[in-house]
Amino acid sequence: MKKQLAALILAVLPAFTFAAGGHGVELDHVEIDLTDKAAMQDGLRTFANYCMGCHSAQFQRYERVADDLGIPHEIMMENVVFTGAKIGDHMKIGMKPEDGKTWFGAAPPDLTLVARVRGTDWLYSYLRAFYEDPTRPYGVNNRVFPNVGMPHVLAPLQGRQVVGCKQVQVVEDGRKQFDPLTGTPITHEACDQLTVLPNTGELSEAEYDEKVKNLVTFLAYSANPVKLESQRIGTYVLLFLAFFFVFAYLLKREYWKDVH
Ligand code: HEC
Repeated sequence: MKKQLAALILAVLPAFTFAAGGHGVELDHVEIDLTDKAAMQDGLRTFANYCMGCHSAQFQRYERVADDLGIPHEIMMENVVFTGAKIGDHMKIGMKPEDGKTWFGAAPPDLTLVARVRGTDWLYSYLRAFYEDPTRPYGVNNRVFPNVGMPHVLAPLQGRQVVGCKQVQVVEDGRKQFDPLTGTPITHEACDQLTVLPNTGELSEAEYDEKVKNLVTFLAYSANPVKLESQRIGTYVLLFLAFFFVFAYLLKREYWKDVH
């Protein structure tokens, strides 16, 4: 019993650590589809263009990523590998951790496994939670990671996000409220909301959310590149076991036939 209890506690523990990671901020949920190669390719492009100036993914090789995501090696070399690295190299960067610490107050961590450490909801929320804050060194702060050292590198895409007033749906006892007659959401004005100033970014809000979702899909793949493969193998193992059971049963019946 004690053992079972310990196992149960261990099993639910990660849920609490993720909850704590958000500093009490509610995280937005995102459905990640690890079979969507187009999404992962788009995410990889964003990662190479906007993140690899500071962050490595050094447990991952360019070649493996290209093969897993169905990208021909020449295209990979032209569009993703900017560091003079070879296709078989790990996805390292030139910046030294000490320099990162001097420049940003904290060294940009390697991101190969970040989706496993933080969770995909956290990443999705974090990358959409930068807002203008003149008191910070780079003029931005983050709702999900207060006083973060990272600048808002995706700002050209998202535009200028500020704290402002917005109509939000009323929630009571954890349930969203709807007008019982018309079925429309009941809203109220809240003035602690993040709002993007219109026409300040290249993408619309929906397009930006999609971009970030694709980036998070790529990071989820990067943290668990064998997941696709293990799902496929798992199916075969179950099929084999089902098949094997029939023969094992028939054999058992054969052996025990004369014993009684
Ligand atoms: C100009 C440098 C720079 C660029 C470019 C950059 N980051 Fe960062 N990032 C940082 C720094 C510095 C930190 C550490 C912040 C801290 O601890 O206060 C950080 C932290 C993070 C973290 C938090 C990691 C953790 O678990 O604490 C994530 C996730 C992240 N970056 C993702 C990204 C993504 C995705 C991109 C590309 C869209 C990106 N970063 C681009 C500098 C950068």
